[in-house]
Amino acid sequence: MKVGIVGAGMVGSSAGYALAILGIASDIVFVDRNEALAVAQAEDISHAVPFVSATTVLAGGYADLAGAGVVIIAAGVSQKPGEGRLELLERNAAVFRDVVTQVLKAAPKAILLIASNPVDIMTQIATRLSGLPAQRVIGSGTILDTARFRSLVGRHLGIAPQSVHAYVLGEHGDSEVLAWSNARAGSVALRSFADQVGKPLTEATRGAIDDGVRNAAYKIINGKGSTYYGIGAGLARIVKAIAHDERDVLSVSIVTPRVGDVTDVALSVPRIVGAGGVAADLFPQLDEAEFAALNHSASLLKERVETVKL
Ligand code: 2OP
Repeated sequence: MKVGIVGAGMVGSSAGYALAILGIASDIVFVDRNEALAVAQAEDISHAVPFVSATTVLAGGYADLAGAGVVIIAAGVSQKPGEGRLELLERNAAVFRDVVTQVLKAAPKAILLIASNPVDIMTQIATRLSGLPAQRVIGSGTILDTARFRSLVGRHLGIAPQSVHAYVLGEHGDSEVLAWSNARAGSVALRSFADQVGKPLTEATRGAIDDGVRNAAYKIINGKGSTYYGIGAGLARIVKAIAHDERDVLSVSIVTPRVGDVTDVALSVPRIVGAGGVAADLFPQLDEAEFAALNHSASLLKERVETVKL
């Protein structure tokens, strides 16, 4: 599958690197209004290819996206230290007005994979601008928060993160919801597993994990300016599910008809992802507090998205 990447900054290039290293795409095309940057990223990544895969990596204009099965949109600005994701909204909405039109003109059959922040709102904007069905405009959503959650729980329990089945729901951002009540390790309820291995999930431990997940990006941004490897791998994971029609259950964001009291809002719940994009939504059973928190996250996003004029 040919994959387009609009925005050759740290997130776009990390996604391209992960796609090339894992051999998921046959062709990768970088498009950036800074053409020299797109060319440089494509060249650099193409030099990794002889070691590992057979991907063709090029830079080009929008017209070169023709035939792409997926186009990742990672264009726009990212957070500076101290800035929240929602503060990027106006600037990135303006960028998307142009980018989405150009991408659709060149690659009308592509699934759009949105990475720019605030990702849920940008996903809803891209859905509106494109007129595509919601299932074909997918935001990376909480795929990364879910990975952070699994890695911290795995570390606490001394097991592989892949054996932790737990999701972060709602906004990719401050109001996100860690769904503890239905989390499992292997096939065992998390709390019971933790007790069995002598590493109980006390309130303090859960609080530390919650903080570690919710504030991971702020800490990384303070340390090195931005986050990109984690999301790059997450984006490659979503492309793989689409390219190979894997029907994986991933926490990604699309415009969802109803979440609690809120209608038509983009946020993350676990969804089946395959060749056509999102094949189905899977609403997990939540306890009362988690459900209320998800409803709150949905209302915040909905309020915010309604302020954007297109
Ligand atoms: C992240 O969570 C900043 O949204 C980006 O790493």
